[in-house]
Amino acid sequence: MEYYEELGLRKEPFSTSPDPDFFFYTREHKECIQRLEINIRMRRGLSVILGDVGTGKTTLSRMIIKLFDTFSSQYDFHLILDPAFESEFEFVKNLASVFNIKDTARSTFEYKMLVENFLFKKAVEENKVVVLVVDEGQKLTPLHIEALRTLLNYETNEFKLLQLVILAQMEFMNKIKRQPNFLDRISLGYVINPINEEDTVGMIQYRLKKAGYRGKEPLFTKEAVSKIHQYTQGYPRKIIQFCHNVLVEILRNGDKQVKEETVVSVIRRESPWHV
Ligand SMILES: Nc1ncnc2c1ncn2[C@@H]1O[C@H](COP(=O)(O)OP(=O)(O)OP(=O)(O)O)[C@@H](O)[C@H]1O
Ligand SMILES: [Mg+2]
Repeated sequence: MEYYEELGLRKEPFSTSPDPDFFFYTREHKECIQRLEINIRMRRGLSVILGDVGTGKTTLSRMIIKLFDTFSSQYDFHLILDPAFESEFEFVKNLASVFNIKDTARSTFEYKMLVENFLFKKAVEENKVVVLVVDEGQKLTPLHIEALRTLLNYETNEFKLLQLVILAQMEFMNKIKRQPNFLDRISLGYVINPINEEDTVGMIQYRLKKAGYRGKEPLFTKEAVSKIHQYTQGYPRKIIQFCHNVLVEILRNGDKQVKEETVVSVIRRESPWHV
């Protein structure tokens, strides 16, 4: 029997994978998705989403892909999960492969041509909106950023051929400040902040419900969640990891509910690891 079944759950409620099924629309995430959706639909080119470690960027990228998937086949999404490439050549070669371009080339220039032709064919001849989502954007080097900038130059009189969404940790901002040509092209810039207490309550309840919790009593008391919010400062990954730890704690103690005391005792035990 899995640990969560003992608590009346069907699934693991606080797994840290970026599963869209467990996504809760917090104020921060909702506004970001709405703005991103508009920017992509209007084909305005470059969107940059920044956020500290564990604020929900990867999860959000999955959500946006899923969202467009459900309402139209006009959108053609491609995803780069980890843009750490050694050279510009490796980078553009990978871009071609991400776009499913079958032809191979021998130089960076040739790969750029292949990508440009692909974008023209898709966006102009087939009337598709091609969207490239780059996660872990802080790993892009100045050369990669410059290569992406040239892709954003391809446009018709009305729209850009490529919609580029970059999700990155805050340090990316320092990088692009040194590349004003790129900075200038950002049509949507959004920073995901940690979530407030109300959304922390909402997110925990939502995930428990999704995992099948149907108990009469709430599994976490209001005071317990308030303490969790205070301790994690509203960072989604920290909240999720901490909630998992407190569930393990009540199982060990044979309790049925996470109370403020449970949270306090887990914090006390964990704090040496979080200096
Ligand atoms: N709105 C949300 N609803 C439910 N869970 C969320 C939400 N946002 C984030 N999470 C959870 O928080 C955890 C961290 O999210 P994610 O991996 O997307 O963060 P990240 O910003 O990409 O982090 P990193 O900077 O380390 O790449 C995941 O377990 C994810 O499921
Ligand atoms: Mg991530």
